[in-house]
Amino acid sequence: MSLTTQINTPSPIVLSIAGSDSGGGAGIQADIKAISATGGYACSVVTALTAQNTQGVSGIFPISGEFIEQQLDAVFTDLNVVAVKIGMLSDSGIIRAVASKIKQYAPKYLVLDPVMVTRNGDLLLEDSAIETLKSELFPLADVITPNLPEAAALIESDIPNDENVMNSMVDKLRGLGAKNVLLKGGFLQHESNSTDLFITEHQVIRLSTPRIITKNTHGTGCSLSSAIASYLAQGFQLGEAVSLAKQYITEALKQADKLQIGQGHGPVNHFFALHK
Ligand SMILES: Nc1ncnc2c1ncn2[C@@H]1O[C@H](COP(=O)(O)OP(=O)(O)OP(=O)(O)O)[C@@H](O)[C@H]1O
Ligand SMILES: [Mg+2]
Repeated sequence: MSLTTQINTPSPIVLSIAGSDSGGGAGIQADIKAISATGGYACSVVTALTAQNTQGVSGIFPISGEFIEQQLDAVFTDLNVVAVKIGMLSDSGIIRAVASKIKQYAPKYLVLDPVMVTRNGDLLLEDSAIETLKSELFPLADVITPNLPEAAALIESDIPNDENVMNSMVDKLRGLGAKNVLLKGGFLQHESNSTDLFITEHQVIRLSTPRIITKNTHGTGCSLSSAIASYLAQGFQLGEAVSLAKQYITEALKQADKLQIGQGHGPVNHFFALHK
């Protein structure tokens, strides 16, 4: 399968439920770019506004549960949403509001990125909301995509410092109640490869690429989970969608330094295919 042969239907609709990143590198903005670049039609329900740039988050303004529900009703009663990606959900009230609408409208695919903390250490999910996320949303997800600190928080372990420790987390991650888990290894910056583990009920599939040396890694996780949702919406099986999305994020990272955005961790190059 190659990235050039992947688009096989007129843009199926992919909904991102996530926070806005005013700097355009992560959150809803990254999701819309990744979905569009991989052949989906992106729509969005905003769960929080963040005042953010490539150097960090300076403010968070959560949207009320009622208004999130209103956005979800507007989208689902008109647009034929095939796949949903969920990102930042600030608190338990918002998680419950989103879970109840996902149950009501039952989209075919759900990819859940359990966003908790940014790369710069800014807290995006209240600690008390972790249990609500597990009980309300994990059972609905086809795949959850924690990074290493998030996976450690979810199973109450230390943050892994190598791939052996990542492997030792598999059983507990399976026990979280989601159908599948993609454990992302971008955090292990001292490793020469960036290795993710795709954990299904019966298998662990290792997805490993040489680590790209760049400081422009803002929004990798958001973009990866959105690309998975986009490929699922286009009819790929989950394993194929995960592998294609990993290829997509790797290429977007390889070409990230062609963009010169901000003074901190800039975004990946979502539209690398347009700039050859
Ligand atoms: N420097 C790198 N080189 C190659 N691949 C990378 C690099 N950094 C991250 N990745 C890949 O990018 C994807 C996102 O993983 P990562 O662990 O960075 O997620 P994240 O921490 O949720 O990202 P974010 O900071 O956007 O929240 C994974 O497939 C990971 O392997
Ligand atoms: Mg992330």
